[in-house]
Amino acid sequence: MSNKSLQARKDKAFARGQGTLTSAFIEKALNAELWDVEGKRYIDLGSGIAVVNTGHNHPRVQAAAQAQLEKFSHTCLTVTPYACAVELAEKLNAVAPGATPKKSIFVTTGAEAVENSVKIARTHTGRTGVIAFNGSFHGRTSLTMGLTGRVAPYKVGFGPFPGEIYHAPFPNAYHGVSVEASLRALSMLFTVEIEPGRVAAIIIEPVQGEGGFYQAPFDFLQALRRLCDQHGILLICDEIQSGFARTGKMFACEYAGIEPDLITMAKGIAGGFPLAAVVGKAEIMDGPRPGGLGGTYSGSPIGCAAALAVLEVIEEEQLCERATRVGENMVSRLSTLQAMFPHKIGDVRNLGAMIAIELVHEGDANQPDPELTQAVVDEAARNGLILLSCGIRGNVIRLLPPLTITDELIGESMDLLEKTFDRLIGASG
Ligand SMILES: Cc1ncc(COP(=O)(O)O)c(C=O)c1O
Repeated sequence: MSNKSLQARKDKAFARGQGTLTSAFIEKALNAELWDVEGKRYIDLGSGIAVVNTGHNHPRVQAAAQAQLEKFSHTCLTVTPYACAVELAEKLNAVAPGATPKKSIFVTTGAEAVENSVKIARTHTGRTGVIAFNGSFHGRTSLTMGLTGRVAPYKVGFGPFPGEIYHAPFPNAYHGVSVEASLRALSMLFTVEIEPGRVAAIIIEPVQGEGGFYQAPFDFLQALRRLCDQHGILLICDEIQSGFARTGKMFACEYAGIEPDLITMAKGIAGGFPLAAVVGKAEIMDGPRPGGLGGTYSGSPIGCAAALAVLEVIEEEQLCERATRVGENMVSRLSTLQAMFPHKIGDVRNLGAMIAIELVHEGDANQPDPELTQAVVDEAARNGLILLSCGIRGNVIRLLPPLTITDELIGESMDLLEKTFDRLIGASG
């Protein structure tokens, strides 16, 4: 079996809409390394898109999932529930930021968590409007596509989109959008589009993921909190990509010291098992009536058991602190790389281990270089390094290593990245 033959079969068997970033078909994985069907080894700086924060096949997570599998794999949480789900809800309620008592629901995917957060916000407030941000990504279902602030590839040809969704500019210093400008635009939105009294929620990623790893300034999140309180609007933090120790805190919004009304969680929550959650202020969470929330596979017992192990690993292995160190370590190497290629690497940024470089022409933020970005991803994969691209301009390379990656592997991965840049642009300058 070769990568090439599997790719040919995949091209025939799969709709092209479910594309892939690399042509490596993976046979096995361990911590921060992958091996493909041809035995080629890769360092994984994608973590399955910020999912395996605890590394591939963490023995504790695997053992917890296996033990649960021995007992039962599915009974349906909304029919005959089980203890591991209750225990997980209690633990998530306790780790969610803020002193207000919390409640949880479990679903299966991030998009479902976002959909449900909007349903909960609408029932609690009796309002319909939702404000999201330019460049945001909240999922691929109809409502979450509507919330997503980027057209290609997520919305092209998929309309009509649900109503009562509005977008505001996300503050982005590198691209010249100040906190003040974003707040002014929100105020204008209240003037020209929808009165605040009809807005159920404002949803924001504390660090935009697919949009390009732009961090919402802490004072912006604080200002949003005040604005929401002023108008009775709920603040939803979408921590699906930024949660579970990824940024150096359990949740990125903790940096701003705010308490969101609702938090959406998925990805890193269960170390690779499909599980997602909405955790929020108890009174708000109890808005929908019994039966209004859920789903056949919501809160899979295997996912819940794995998630409990993930929480233990994050605490015992101090993965928040580790994320901060991983970020510092990589950014110091990336800054050196930027000094070598200042005309191509326009920006290096991170919050903990959510790390990105933005590729441009002539060092100019307004001249994105998506072609080079794609070339770097392809060449890195040939060199044995898995990288992910992102960004509304397609010119950001994001680094999301497992937080359990060793310093040696970080060093080796940065050597491979340097080699990739050297090969692609070193000679031509
Ligand atoms: C911030 C954010 N929200 C929502 C989603 C959707 O999650 P899922 O792909 O599990 O539906 C993602 C996925 O990338 C995400 O990064």
